[in-house]
Amino acid sequence: MKNLQDLIKITKQELIAALQAARTEKELEDVRIAYLGRTGKLLELMKQLKALPIEQKRTLGPLINELKTFAQEQYEAKKIQLQQQQAEQKAREQQYFDVTAYRPQKILGCTHIFTQLIEQLETIFISMGYDIADGPEVETDYYNFEALNIPADHPARDLHDTFWLDVPNMLLRTHTSSVQVHAMETQKLPIALLAPGRCYRNEATDASHDFMFMQAEGLLIDHDVSMAHLLATAKTFLQEIFEKKDLAIRVRPGYFPFVEPGVEIDAACPFCTSGCSTCKKTGWIELLGAGLVHPNVLQASGIDSEQYSGFAFGFGLERIAMIKYGINDIRLFRSNNIEFLEQF
Ligand code: PHE
Repeated sequence: MKNLQDLIKITKQELIAALQAARTEKELEDVRIAYLGRTGKLLELMKQLKALPIEQKRTLGPLINELKTFAQEQYEAKKIQLQQQQAEQKAREQQYFDVTAYRPQKILGCTHIFTQLIEQLETIFISMGYDIADGPEVETDYYNFEALNIPADHPARDLHDTFWLDVPNMLLRTHTSSVQVHAMETQKLPIALLAPGRCYRNEATDASHDFMFMQAEGLLIDHDVSMAHLLATAKTFLQEIFEKKDLAIRVRPGYFPFVEPGVEIDAACPFCTSGCSTCKKTGWIELLGAGLVHPNVLQASGIDSEQYSGFAFGFGLERIAMIKYGINDIRLFRSNNIEFLEQF
C-alpha cells in the first residue's frame, strides 16, 4: 500500500514538472497523453489499485481521483496560459510591423514580340503610304497557288509542304502571297499594302524551321512601277527595322512563279563587317523574296498588265526578330516561356 501511495505522490510531482516544462501546445498535448491518455500513467495507477484489498482501495482510490482532477485542471490552466502567451507574442511581433517594408513582386504583362514587331512594321509602312491588309489563314488552292501562277502540276508546289485539309482544294496558307490576290480582286487601284500574318508548312521543326510562322507580304500596284521602286522600298524598310541608316542591301536573282523578274534581297550583316555566325561568315543576310508582279498574276485578278505593273515582296517575321534580337531558336517564339517573352 505504501508503494502505491508513494507512486501517486511521485506521479503528481512528475506531472507538475512536466506541465511546467511544456512550452508549446504540442508539448502540452504530449503531457496530457502521457498522464491522462488511454495508456497514461493515471490509468496505470488505477490498474494497480484494482489488485489491492478493499480497505486500501477506499483510502487510495480517492487519492487517485483527486490526482486525476488535479491533472485535468492543471492541464486546462496551462493550455490557456500557453494560448495567451502565444497571442501576446504575436501582438509583440506585429506591433512594429511595417506595412511599407513588404512590396509584392510586380508581375507586369507585355505584348508578344510579334505584336511589337508588327506594330513597328505598320508604323514604317503606313508612313510610306501603305494600308495594312489581312486575309484568311484557311485558303483555297486558287488563292494560295492557282491565281499566283502556280497551276496544279507546277513543281513549285512541292516546295511548299502544304497542309491540305480534308475538304477538297482547301489548305492552310503556305505564304501571305494569297493576300495579294484578295486585294487585287477587291481593292481599287492603285494598291499599296502590307499584310502580316500566320502561315503554315508541313515540315519537321528545328532551330530555324517551325510548322507555323509569321510572314508579311508587301504589294504595290500602280502605273509604271519598276524594280527601282521595289529596291528603294526594301532598303528603306530594312534600314528602319534594323535601325541602321546606312544598311546596305544586295540583290540576287531568285525564282518565284508569281514574280518576273524575281529576286532575293539580302541586307549587309548588321553585326559585322567581315563575317560572323549570324551571317554564316558571308557578311550578308538573306531576308526578302521579291520581284515585279507577273503579268499572269495581274490578269488572273482582272488587272490590265499593259496599263499597270507592280512589285511584291515577302519576308519572315521570325527571321527579322532573330537577327534583330539575336535569338537562336525559332521555337522560342511559341514556347510560352515567360523568361524569354518578358525580355521584349
Ligand atoms: N511567298 C514567297 C515565300 O513564301 C515570298 C515572296 C513574296 C516572294 C512576294 C516574292 C514575292 O517564299
